[in-house]
Amino acid sequence: MSYPYQIRSLEQYRTDHQRSIQDPEGFWSEIAEHFVWKKKWDKVLEWNFTEPRVRWFEGAQLNITENCIDRHLADKADQPAIIWEPNDPSERTRTITYAILHKRVCQFAQVLRNNGVKKGDRVCIYMGMVPELAYAVLGCARIGAIHSVIFGGFSAQSIADRLADAQAEFIVTCDGAYRGAKDIPLKSVIDDALVGNQSVKRVIVYTRTRTPVSMIKGRDVWWEEEMEHAATQLEQTGSVHVPAEPMDAEDPLFILYTSGSTGKPKGVVHSSAGYMLWTNYTFVNVFQYQPKQVHFCTADIGWITGHSYILYGPLSAGATSVMFEGIPTWPDAGRFWDIVDKYKVNILYTAPTAIRSLMGFGTEPLEGKDLSSLQVLGTVGEPINEEAWHWYDEHIGKKRCPIVDTWWQTETGGVLISNLAGITPAKAAWATLPLPGVQPILVDEKGAPVTERDENGMLKGNLCIQGPWPSILRTTYGDHERCRQNYFATYDNLYFTGDGALQDADGNFRITGRVDDVLNVSGHRIGTAEVENAINCHAGVVESAVVGYPHAVKGQGIYAYVIISHFHQDAEQTRKDILQTVTRVIGPIAKPDQIQFVSGLPKTRSGKIMRRILRKIAEGETENLGDTTTLLDPGVVKEIVEGRG
Ligand code: WT7
Repeated sequence: MSYPYQIRSLEQYRTDHQRSIQDPEGFWSEIAEHFVWKKKWDKVLEWNFTEPRVRWFEGAQLNITENCIDRHLADKADQPAIIWEPNDPSERTRTITYAILHKRVCQFAQVLRNNGVKKGDRVCIYMGMVPELAYAVLGCARIGAIHSVIFGGFSAQSIADRLADAQAEFIVTCDGAYRGAKDIPLKSVIDDALVGNQSVKRVIVYTRTRTPVSMIKGRDVWWEEEMEHAATQLEQTGSVHVPAEPMDAEDPLFILYTSGSTGKPKGVVHSSAGYMLWTNYTFVNVFQYQPKQVHFCTADIGWITGHSYILYGPLSAGATSVMFEGIPTWPDAGRFWDIVDKYKVNILYTAPTAIRSLMGFGTEPLEGKDLSSLQVLGTVGEPINEEAWHWYDEHIGKKRCPIVDTWWQTETGGVLISNLAGITPAKAAWATLPLPGVQPILVDEKGAPVTERDENGMLKGNLCIQGPWPSILRTTYGDHERCRQNYFATYDNLYFTGDGALQDADGNFRITGRVDDVLNVSGHRIGTAEVENAINCHAGVVESAVVGYPHAVKGQGIYAYVIISHFHQDAEQTRKDILQTVTRVIGPIAKPDQIQFVSGLPKTRSGKIMRRILRKIAEGETENLGDTTTLLDPGVVKEIVEGRG
């Protein structure tokens, strides 16, 4: 299969973009013709941003797994769909062809059915990066169950909150997960999450690390036994095939939780048809994927990047996708390059934080590694600094691979702003131009389009998107009003991204970072309010304020100002206790990098914390802290600056 809708020139990009805006229904319905439908649509698009209500391909029926698997069986049955690289490089690798993927996904779909999972039920998946995670995700999609994957770094408390929010009755997990030198006891975290839980009916446990687990009678079952049973059942039918559930175009495909500016993560809901179209279209166009190329996205499937660019995008395009269980620095900092060499990777898609961290090891880990297979490089998750961009270009791409800087969000489902590899121009540290179907606009605080250019000829404002692209989030699970408030209420008739951006005279966008109280730590989104809530759980804490500050590797670090009632032992011990509390409440990814004990916080007379000042102090600023005259007690600022250390 080649891709008739693949943009092959700058000129075509321009005409396609223009047409997609003038005639979105015509444009997207032509592309939709290249997918497998059980029933075609009655109407291509219906939308308003006031409710909000967005419906693409209303009346159509499909199953995304038929598009990701079955349709490739005719000509790609023996082509690898997933190449799995284990954490430990001396362990056997696994190659999952499309035929095997079909067999395993059907088998697991049968397991889900045997365990009482029905269309529309929510299934929480908490696993390491093993092929069985892909089978679990796609098995859910096969029978129309809504998957909610939770990243393996989240705590029992976070899982419990997400289970309750999604009213999930089923869990798929592993005994444990390998990550570098660590062995994370996933099942035991699930057990903690389920203390007192009355709703979860079934936990399916895949054996990976053989760490001892407590299996509860009547609730917990082994993956291996269930799969064997399903295989026997299927054998009796004489076929490994389990029919795919017909899904309405707008039926939810999955929920993925992400942080916002409030203390509670929200469950972003994606649709079936629109999400499929967008992940496929962007995969094929942004990376300029060519049949038989090997694509390696280094993300974890616990995040949206893994959903869209390890699984759904590549598989729907019949690609070969590398899935890596481990981490970039174990057993040494050459691991990515070993993988590129070993599987002759053509497309490498990673995060700026990984590039910066590997940069820190110099070029020695690159010695003897053959990177000549690489053709396209990509980055995602946070603004990439020019230094990292050039290192990536020079030492990894050897100056012959286009770099795509892809801007998008959990809520957007796939890439919205990016150059197209080798087709539209790259600009170091700029995401550049919108994909067809995407109309970004920069607005000021009041929502008026920014028209005045600064001294460098740039427009600067809050990044919004006009009109819906096919994979825009449809709702936040169980709370549609929250979705409206968060994304559609700030500015009339616009989707607000929460990011600030610049636009140059050629129309290129440069994303400068969040303008709300959301941090981006190593490409992971964390709300300051969430971290504050977690810190405040510690018995000795009176109050806290969390801000971000520039961090050389993580992009942003977490800086916490904490008022304490007393030190249980000494300050150092209390600091450790707070870190432990945050790990318990959210997970290790939310641990503050800096904790400063203070006696008060800068507040306005109405009691609002002046984060602007705290941010400046965290950044190391001591002089120009702005107007502090409106503060209730200007004295605390001086104390905090002196205590910055
Ligand atoms: C936020 C979304 C999209 C998958 C990974 C993160 C930031 C993302 C870029 C980029 C500058 C970027 C934004 C965005 N971001 N990509 N190429 N350049 N910033 O998904 O957790 O939903 O976070 O990540 O701030 O809003 P997420």
